[in-house]
Amino acid sequence: MQAPRRIAFINEKGGSAKTTLVTSIGSYLALRMGRRVLAIDMDPQGQLGKVLGVEVRRNRRTAIDLVLDSLLGDPGLDKTPREPGNRPASSLPIVATHIPGLDVVVANKSLALFPQGDTDDDELTSRLDRVLNEAAEINDYDFVLFDAPPSFGPLTLCVLRAAREVVIPVPVTYLALDSCAELMRTIHTVRSHYGNPALQVTMVVPTFYRRTRLAHEILEKLQQRFPKQLSHSVLGYHVKIDEAQSHGLSIFEYAPSDRGARVLAELAEELAQRAPDLETHTDFERHAT
Ligand SMILES: Nc1ncnc2c1ncn2[C@@H]1O[C@H](COP(=O)(O)OP(=O)(O)OP(=O)(O)O)[C@@H](O)[C@H]1O
Ligand SMILES: [Mg+2]
Repeated sequence: MQAPRRIAFINEKGGSAKTTLVTSIGSYLALRMGRRVLAIDMDPQGQLGKVLGVEVRRNRRTAIDLVLDSLLGDPGLDKTPREPGNRPASSLPIVATHIPGLDVVVANKSLALFPQGDTDDDELTSRLDRVLNEAAEINDYDFVLFDAPPSFGPLTLCVLRAAREVVIPVPVTYLALDSCAELMRTIHTVRSHYGNPALQVTMVVPTFYRRTRLAHEILEKLQQRFPKQLSHSVLGYHVKIDEAQSHGLSIFEYAPSDRGARVLAELAEELAQRAPDLETHTDFERHAT
């Protein structure tokens, strides 16, 4: 069995469509491509579960169980080693969604209990990676998608250490390039100082694109900086995307023929096709460092 691709959706800029891409791409991979997907919410806002119609409050175990020791030691968690034919309950706080093949680890405000401001604590920020490495059931999945919070801190560092690939949604605005450069420096640090040398940027996705001259210029700059990683499809503003989320449905169920659904489908297919490639990160690094 092959290990799943572990992909973090990150941009420190709030409202850049991270959660939308995780839930939409995850839904498409499961619904239309028959892949097994685990989406993990690492944002205390807890929106990933909400937009997929999962009742967050009723779940006793959430993402905080992945990263806090006291909870990992919970005797309620079945840690029996897996024997063939004798499958223990999951050691991860996984919840099924209404979409077959798409499971989630939801988050809520308790995730904010994770010590903030302590990015130097190596043991703390490597926990998510270690928990996933030790969980045999992670190999049931083809993709693990992480939804990161909008600010850089220990939780984002946890995600970057646990992921092997990064997808960066970039809202096409004047300041977007600044946040990209900052993020590339962070990724570089995670490669060199946090034991994740193969972390790569697989795809850069322009979001909230509008047909203006400024947007066009920004796209050109993104093209220069990320010649291999820039996605072929560009996500504009499509109101059905927002509406679908308010109903707890994926856009592929709510408005499958909407233009937004088509673009998100293209992005999911593109991500599935982009094989991890250790060479792809070098181009941008020259600009970022
Ligand atoms: N292409 C789009 N068209 C219309 N609305 C969108 C689109 N993408 C995202 N939205 C809406 O914009 C808002 C922000 O998107 P989203 O929550 O995915 O961003 P985020 O990067 O996860 O935000 P945060 O940084 O707060 O976690 C949401 O209400 C979402 O429904
Ligand atoms: Mg979000």
